[in-house]
Amino acid sequence: GKGEYDHYMAKEIDTQPTALSNTIEGRVENGNVAFEDLPVGTFADVETVQFVACGTSYHAAMYGSQLLRSAGVRAEVLRASEYEQTAGPVDENTLVVAVTQSGETADTLDAVRRATDRGARSLAVTNVVGSTAAREADDAIYIRAGPEVGVAATKTFSSQAVTLALLTQRIAADVPTATPVDDREAMLESLEDLPEHVETVLETTNAESLAREYIDSDSYFFIGNGLGHSVALEGALKFKEITYEHAEGFAAGELKHGPLALVTQETPVFAIATGDDEKTKTNAIEARTRGAPIVAVAPDDHPIADAADRQLSIPDTHPVWAGLLANVQLQLVSYHAAALLERPIDKPRNLAKSVTVE
Ligand code: F6R
Repeated sequence: GKGEYDHYMAKEIDTQPTALSNTIEGRVENGNVAFEDLPVGTFADVETVQFVACGTSYHAAMYGSQLLRSAGVRAEVLRASEYEQTAGPVDENTLVVAVTQSGETADTLDAVRRATDRGARSLAVTNVVGSTAAREADDAIYIRAGPEVGVAATKTFSSQAVTLALLTQRIAADVPTATPVDDREAMLESLEDLPEHVETVLETTNAESLAREYIDSDSYFFIGNGLGHSVALEGALKFKEITYEHAEGFAAGELKHGPLALVTQETPVFAIATGDDEKTKTNAIEARTRGAPIVAVAPDDHPIADAADRQLSIPDTHPVWAGLLANVQLQLVSYHAAALLERPIDKPRNLAKSVTVE
């Protein structure tokens, strides 16, 4: 049950440190990534990786796909519902990775079936042991987040992103043409601190007072670049899903190509810092010049904080994990905004936990 919490979502946000510890447990040893049933060399034949997913899982897949490309492996991320029309060529050297919390999302299952019919190899990254995705795919990796009851995915996003980041290191280690990132060791080392850093965010967050301050706004925008783009999309999805307020996420550099027309004093802009954030900073300044309040989601000493009216602070960490800490702050903002608006947080109207129709 939800115990002392008002909502499952609050519990699921709050128990992320434990969920993440479970996700990581035993998977990094002596600077190498190991997955239970997938021996070293298992991905040696992989030439291209296609991630397929929907909703929040798609945002986690964006994260993984960017990391894999930066390790020199060809990778793309496709919306599962668009797979039929948009997927490029697939063969036996294609690994299709289905990212699905429930393992039951019809669009995602359909995309995997289409890819495997054309000869691709498949891997499910899921939370649910024995789910359809886990049973149908050639292999499965579990994110081990524990059951998620709230319709809005929270802890499972964090566990998916970490699992996928580890998976990219496992794949890059096997693929002969990959160029594993130089600071891989530092990245894996700082992963050990992630559960503690999430705990720090949970203990020190000012998300509730910030939500209260901006609750009467017209619209809420979330911007980021690189890994921060996927976090921006996820921040906006969560916000609209449970508050019923209008929210949009953008790649920071796209703001000036249209959305800036919507920016006023009544549209707070959350600027998400994940490391290489020059575009996020310059575009946040553009929005600020149009009167928008800027909320930096960043470490205290980050340059983006200078361009902001308010801050949601995150601990300093490796850039690969910073976006996950920013995302926890955004989960909390959405949660508190929805609570202030008295929305039915765990069961938003019109939505279901797992979407088993196409
Ligand atoms: C958003 C949310 C949905 C799911 C999507 C995919 O909070 O929960 O967007 O992420 O329906 O579900 P799974 O991961 O079960 O395939």
